Amino acid sequence: MPIPDSFIDELVARNDIVDTVSSYVALTKKGSNYWGLCPFHNEKTPSFSVSASKQIYHCFGCGKGGGVISFVMEQENLAFPDAVRLLAQRAGLEMPEELQNAGDGKRRERLLQLNREAARYFHANLSQPEARAGVDYLNHRGLSRRTVTNFGLGYAPDSWDGLISAMSARGYTKGDLLEGGLAVKNSSGRIYDRFRGRVMFPIIDIRGNVIGFGGRVLDDSTPKYLNSPDTPVYNKSRNLFALNIAKKSKRGQMILTEGYMDTISLHQAGFDCAVASLGTSLTQEHAQLLSRYAKEVIIAYDGDGAGVNAAQRAIRIFEKTGLQVKILQVQGAKDPDEFIKKYGPEAFERLLTQSENHIEYRLLQVQKKYNLEEDSQKVAYLKEAAGLVAGLTSPVEREVYGRKAAQAARFDAAAMMQEVERTRKSQTWKARKQEERRELTPAVQSQPKNRAFKYENVSSALAEEGVLRLVLLDPTLARKAEALKQEDFSSPLLGKIFGLLLQRWREGKELQAAALAGALEPEEMSHLASILQKPESLANGEQALSDYIRKIQMEQVKRANANGLDPLLAYREKKAMEDRK
Ligand code: UTP
Ligand code: MN
Repeated sequence: MPIPDSFIDELVARNDIVDTVSSYVALTKKGSNYWGLCPFHNEKTPSFSVSASKQIYHCFGCGKGGGVISFVMEQENLAFPDAVRLLAQRAGLEMPEELQNAGDGKRRERLLQLNREAARYFHANLSQPEARAGVDYLNHRGLSRRTVTNFGLGYAPDSWDGLISAMSARGYTKGDLLEGGLAVKNSSGRIYDRFRGRVMFPIIDIRGNVIGFGGRVLDDSTPKYLNSPDTPVYNKSRNLFALNIAKKSKRGQMILTEGYMDTISLHQAGFDCAVASLGTSLTQEHAQLLSRYAKEVIIAYDGDGAGVNAAQRAIRIFEKTGLQVKILQVQGAKDPDEFIKKYGPEAFERLLTQSENHIEYRLLQVQKKYNLEEDSQKVAYLKEAAGLVAGLTSPVEREVYGRKAAQAARFDAAAMMQEVERTRKSQTWKARKQEERRELTPAVQSQPKNRAFKYENVSSALAEEGVLRLVLLDPTLARKAEALKQEDFSSPLLGKIFGLLLQRWREGKELQAAALAGALEPEEMSHLASILQKPESLANGEQALSDYIRKIQMEQVKRANANGLDPLLAYREKKAMEDRK
């Protein structure tokens, strides 16, 4: 059941953006905007702005933006209807009756409840005779009773409908089980348990909700692990296994592993800050999430080639969040789980303290590529290493790592430092030139930050942006904007936003950016906020609007020509338009 627009309008009107954001971020007024440290990326100087007049926020650093609903969705990690529910509570607004029961929030609650009951069922199974094999497996993996309880591990019996019948008895439908990813439907329409004959690992979010499961086979069959699919309550790119426990750790660091067993083994050995990304490689959202709980993260992936590659990828992702990254190299074992079993927790603690910061790690990777006994390879190594070290902003770090890199090749440290500084100069010079060149091309500057929305026709798109700005700043201009159709827009996204606004206007609804949060994706909303944040004068709104409209129409004629449409027709249209001037 969609939430009525009138309710959304009321909600937006009652939740002032400055008030709402202020309860999460310290804001200071400067000029016509409020400024603060962006809650969505790590920064030391404020680039997060909130406009009271436009009721939007926009971060000049990470590009996130939108209205009050988008803010709450992003900040609280909520879906649109749930953000609406939260804001309604905040403003003391009663949710429309039909939404109270049928809403998405209720749906989510039901699925969470189902997951919790399923976890209980899997866990309780462990004491049943048919779970013998599962219990044996957990023992054989060296998991203590306490660990099994702490993590709520369980067993899914080897049957087609063990879970389905247990949950049906508790009032859940097959639809619930399908939506929760706990059951699957085959091509002939038969519905059966997704997890069969597997040891079960519940995935629990930071609020303590069971949101999904991983299940491991007991033998060598495949797939080794089966994970819950993304569901209304589980998104694998946004959740980390065991973060619900690790977030309480006092170690001030996070250990990121590749999987369930590594993480659980580490916890059992006393490293209560281990987490894992599950069935997916690390995402920006994972990194962001971790940065909320620790300043340092130690990547403890498998020692094989895939693990090394994944670690290098992860380094780059973490760098963007400002987290300190170290890489732990598991030696003499394939993964942390095996390492702990073979050598014990003290040895792992030593690995942790020895773990290299990422520059050391990268130097080592470079070193491995070359045979340093050979002169030509030695030169190539020194050049590549100098390039890496030259990129460090701190002179102290350049000194330390430059020397280290030289030492590895038994090369003169002073000469190496000269090479580093020379490389650095040329790097900065190149970067500056590139920056200058970029700034000289307005087309580049005007492109959306998000590549997905790249403008094909920049001059038209800039006019399209102008139309959106004017209409949102002064809704009385909407009548005049009706001269344009969504298809006239060169940017599909801007056209879509225009279409939504026009429709709202025709239905007599308010024109405000914040209310579009339900109709646009968060990235689309961010782009809209970045457009609205640009200056636009209302002094001569009518005239500005006609100029924009003419520009858009002319560009469209040009595009039609370029596409080989009838040039005569195009010419006539253009002429007619010019006559209208
Ligand atoms: P690994 O194959 O390294 O498993 O996969 P592991 O952690 O060493 O597991 P054990 O020790 O053999 O039990 C690492 C992670 O990749 C995901 C799982 O999250 C796993 O923990 N994975 C692996 C899958 O999602 N599906 C698979 O089939 C295999
Ligand atoms: Mn393993």
